[in-house]
Amino acid sequence: MSEKVKSIAILGGTGDLGGGLARQWSRAGYKILIGSRTLEKGQAAAQALLDEFSDLNVTGHENLEACLGADLAVLTVPFAHQLPTLETVKSGLIGKILIDVTVPLMPPKVGTVQLPDSGSAAVQAQNYLGEEVQVISAFQNVGAVHLQGDHGIACDVLVTGNKRSARDSVIELVEALGLKGWHAGPLANAAAAEALTSVLITINRHHGIDGSGIVITGEPQK
Ligand SMILES: NC(=O)c1ccc[n+]([C@@H]2O[C@H](COP(=O)([O-])OP(=O)(O)OC[C@H]3O[C@@H](n4cnc5c(N)ncnc54)[C@H](OP(=O)(O)O)[C@@H]3O)[C@@H](O)[C@H]2O)c1
Repeated sequence: MSEKVKSIAILGGTGDLGGGLARQWSRAGYKILIGSRTLEKGQAAAQALLDEFSDLNVTGHENLEACLGADLAVLTVPFAHQLPTLETVKSGLIGKILIDVTVPLMPPKVGTVQLPDSGSAAVQAQNYLGEEVQVISAFQNVGAVHLQGDHGIACDVLVTGNKRSARDSVIELVEALGLKGWHAGPLANAAAAEALTSVLITINRHHGIDGSGIVITGEPQK
């Protein structure tokens, strides 16, 4: 487990991707605070995990309370609710890393790349939160279906953000899940990972794949 990050708040951790991350990180030994708009829903999601694995350190909270109690937070809500959710938790994120998994999908055309005016959902989050929060973008290209089971995950994760040390911390969390994380440059590059998700959705539909992903080729020398 990371020396620095021991507890993780997952905002919207009651949903598909957040629930999968909660499952995998709690089983890797992290303390997980599942955040929700309602305390009851957060607690029910935590209890469902504990019913399956009684020794996990998982609790349910309202989103802000989860942020305040954790070393790092992960935002896992649909794009339409990204900024409204950040408004409710901003004070709990000061001085912390926020991992943003948001893909700016705009239904019904989710198989078509549609990026926001700021360039990406991650840049939109950073602009809103300001420099007191380090936004790191990751996990856009991992299907939730792979995190909800125990079958192992053959998928790489592009990690973008403006501070290398913050990307290092997130790559450690990525690799705790058995995934390969890559330094993919500044937060502006999150546009590529976010756009790629619509490509993967199209591939899933066309080829009948349940959660296609990406793998970077080449042998790292450092
Ligand atoms: N699903 C995937 O395979 C996948 C893969 C890569 C990236 N992503 C990204 O991950 C994020 C979450 O996706 P998901 O599929 O996990 O979403 P989801 O299951 O539909 O929703 C996640 C959570 O968002 C919260 N939420 C729903 N409506 C809301 C509203 N009106 N206002 C505020 N919060 C609301 C809910 O939490 P509470 O009701 O508990 O508050 C819900 O459990 C998205 O940005 C998506 O693009 C998803």
